[in-house]
Amino acid sequence: MPLSSRSTLTQYLIEERRRFPEAGGALNALILDVALACKAIARAVAFGELGDAMGDAGAASVQGGAVNVQGEEQKKLDVLSNEVFLRRNEWSGCLAGMASEEMAAPYQIPAEHLRGHYLLVFDPLDGSSNIDVNVSVGSIFSILRAPQDVIDSGRDVVEADFLQPGTAQVAAGYALYGPTTMFMLSVGNGVAGFTLNPNLGEFMLTHRDVRVPEDTREFAINASNARFWEPPVKRYVDECLAGATGPRGKDFNMRWIASMVAEAHRILMRGGVFMYPRDTKDAGKPGRLRLLYEANPVGFLIEQAGGRASTGRQAVLGVAPSSLHQRIGLVFGSKHEVERIERYHREPPPRELRNPLFSERSLFRD
Ligand code: F6P
Repeated sequence: MPLSSRSTLTQYLIEERRRFPEAGGALNALILDVALACKAIARAVAFGELGDAMGDAGAASVQGGAVNVQGEEQKKLDVLSNEVFLRRNEWSGCLAGMASEEMAAPYQIPAEHLRGHYLLVFDPLDGSSNIDVNVSVGSIFSILRAPQDVIDSGRDVVEADFLQPGTAQVAAGYALYGPTTMFMLSVGNGVAGFTLNPNLGEFMLTHRDVRVPEDTREFAINASNARFWEPPVKRYVDECLAGATGPRGKDFNMRWIASMVAEAHRILMRGGVFMYPRDTKDAGKPGRLRLLYEANPVGFLIEQAGGRASTGRQAVLGVAPSSLHQRIGLVFGSKHEVERIERYHREPPPRELRNPLFSERSLFRD
């Protein structure tokens, strides 16, 4: 398609805004600033070892590198990406505050800038353990409305202001730094995908009205955790592995990139199911992924594209958050498979799963 007939991200946003004549344009301005932050991060990622942003972040820790609020090792690119998000978004007057995976407490908009109506929550560089091996990583963001008293008073934001369910998201999206840089966005009216034209430095609309196929033969899970899975997840995976000769009567394929943005993107493009379920690995962590800036924005996109996102027990977007960095079990993707996994969580395990002999036949059992 010739360049002249493609929409840019700006054009898409202007057209979407026409549906809301009362909208003042702050949301669009905010999304464009987020997109600009993503372009800057895409450049840093693209330079790899040629740039100055590879390797572990500086400050000392037991491992020799810095650790973030989650106790995870920080890469230089994590720190840089966080800075880019803050600097690009703090000045515009659109935001009342921000929260990031990389910061323990909410970020206050500095006094010299105006404060606005929205909250921005983000993981500036998801999957950053993949950076050193040149595998796709991404940035994920979620936009919420600030509580009315924050807007009225202009007071500092506190953690409780961010503890809104995923259904309250006004917009969400991610940038994927893969072979091409893409920006996937939902403003609550389906999902649109934009590809970065490196010559123009513009995100161009390349994927209109993205839909997740309802059925799939592809699943993604970190199988090294199999011994910690709960019975419904074991049952689901065992049935997939049994393939054409098992109860599903068809063969499945497995994928695991260990980069959720890349995984979410594959599923938005061609379907599949992703699971990082609640497990028994660490009693202090009821899941691996973070609710506010991983599960909720990805869940919003997947559901806007006709898929389903769940904890296994309930729709993830309905969960009332209890803390900023809360972790949660997450299953998302093709609707019929996610619904099946939810059913397995409700049903008593089938007789063979209760039979100890099953353990010996099950591939992922000890
Ligand atoms: O932020 C979490 C993350 O990097 C996700 O992008 C990814 O899905 C997951 O961790 C990978 O976890 P693991 O290293 O346990 O496979």
